[in-house]
Amino acid sequence: MPKNSPVSRRSLLGGALAGGTLAAAGIGSASPAEASVATSATPGRRPGQKTMVDVAFDVHGTVRVGVVGLGNRGSGMSQGWAAVPGAVVTAVCDVRADRVKRTADQLVVQGKTRPAEVTGSTDAFTRLVTRDDVDLVYIATPWEFHYAQGKAALLAGKHVMVELPVATRLEELWDLVNTSERTRRHLMLAENCSYGRNELAMLKMAHDGLFGDVTNGHGGYLHDLRSLLFSDTYYTDSWRRLWHTRSTASFYAMHGLAPIAAAMDINRGDRMTTLRATATEPKGLADYRARFVDRSHPSWNETYINGDLVTCLIDTAQGRVIRAEHDVSSPRPYSRINTLAGTRGTFEDYAGATSGGAGRVYLEPDHGGHTWRDFAPYRAEFDHWLWKKIGDDAANNGGHGGMDYVLQWRTVQLMRTGAAPDIDVYDSAAWCAPVPLSVASLAAGGSPVDFPDFTRGTWAKPRTGLDSRASEMPPVA
Ligand SMILES: NC(=O)c1ccc[n+]([C@@H]2O[C@H](COP(=O)([O-])OP(=O)(O)OC[C@H]3O[C@@H](n4cnc5c(N)ncnc54)[C@H](O)[C@@H]3O)[C@@H](O)[C@H]2O)c1
Repeated sequence: MPKNSPVSRRSLLGGALAGGTLAAAGIGSASPAEASVATSATPGRRPGQKTMVDVAFDVHGTVRVGVVGLGNRGSGMSQGWAAVPGAVVTAVCDVRADRVKRTADQLVVQGKTRPAEVTGSTDAFTRLVTRDDVDLVYIATPWEFHYAQGKAALLAGKHVMVELPVATRLEELWDLVNTSERTRRHLMLAENCSYGRNELAMLKMAHDGLFGDVTNGHGGYLHDLRSLLFSDTYYTDSWRRLWHTRSTASFYAMHGLAPIAAAMDINRGDRMTTLRATATEPKGLADYRARFVDRSHPSWNETYINGDLVTCLIDTAQGRVIRAEHDVSSPRPYSRINTLAGTRGTFEDYAGATSGGAGRVYLEPDHGGHTWRDFAPYRAEFDHWLWKKIGDDAANNGGHGGMDYVLQWRTVQLMRTGAAPDIDVYDSAAWCAPVPLSVASLAAGGSPVDFPDFTRGTWAKPRTGLDSRASEMPPVA
């Protein structure tokens, strides 16, 4: 594809009981996110191992979902899975028996068949992933367990959707890619924000050439989590706060990075090539604790080392630049930034939102005079078919403005129709790689580090992803 060609752009696409208990059991590791291998090293494929690019699911009449981790996220998402036509939650798992019972009870109240209840030990998830009545495992446990649990699901012959991030170390990301390629099962990041209404409209506008040649994008996860991080009841065993004692890293930029990457066709004509990271001083959590947390609280034994704002500057093979940010320690209103710019115009999402989540645009030749215009008419015109089709259901069934349900509905539809996933293992690995790459770059004083090519060369091939063609959900028998 010619570099930065507008024509080619348009034609591209048609806790645990206790953290220590689990670590002692060898399930997951609470070790820092780090790049312990050369960042650009591409391991060879074993004999018989093949790409998962464009590999379709087998057709599933019904998608039987097993859920692991039933805290804030997993319990709500269980109800979302059960609401999708043709999906059944057949098994639910948590180390905490009361949460398993609570989720099973909620599903019964929802009018669904009671799922199998899997609990009793820290490795109970191995009993869920090996069940015959599970086609798709959905994992919503703390970050330190995602890699081991995702891999176990693949090895058990299951497709698996993993919450962010799928893994925190480069060798783990490679191992998930390789295990997916060997087992012929898909591993997908549960990147709900990729299905956000504004994000998908922005993607369609990019593919229709409204921004001209896309040159840069800016996204992130800017969410003041301080009160939740210090809550004794929200994050189980304070797992999320403890990550701030272990690593200096961009833990969770995917919500903002993934939609920008999609609009740039990362892994579908472009790829991320290098990453440079900066981090501000770790001040926010300690400052909050000093003002609001009693001296008897266990957090007073902790030292926070992660920078409040960790910024990744990412270069792409097509000469674009992405800025991806992470900050959960500073006072501010929520933002995923979600800004895309090119030779013909710019979209800014949160910066322009006055109400209803619509942002602002400036697009030549329609706009001039250095004045922002309302994004709303563009969102209406470029509304993604998924939102036109199931937007009302999403509003009734899902969290985060409905995008959780759109993610779940679409995943079930892809499995029931036998299509390839919108978000594959290569997207998942690439979008999560800034976790270890930011560690490596910061350790090297902010120097650029190479971005691995998890596709092993297939990135240059244009192919469909989130900007899919409209299709139906098969009727439920
Ligand atoms: N995509 C999104 O919008 C979104 C939103 C919230 C959370 N998340 C992600 O969801 C995940 C869970 O977050 P949360 O807020 O629900 O945390 P949480 O602490 O509320 O829940 C985690 C649950 O996992 C359970 N657990 C721990 N180890 C386990 C094991 N070995 N086997 C089975 N269960 C185990 C815990 O008992 C707990 O119930 C995290 O990865 C988080 O980043 C994503």
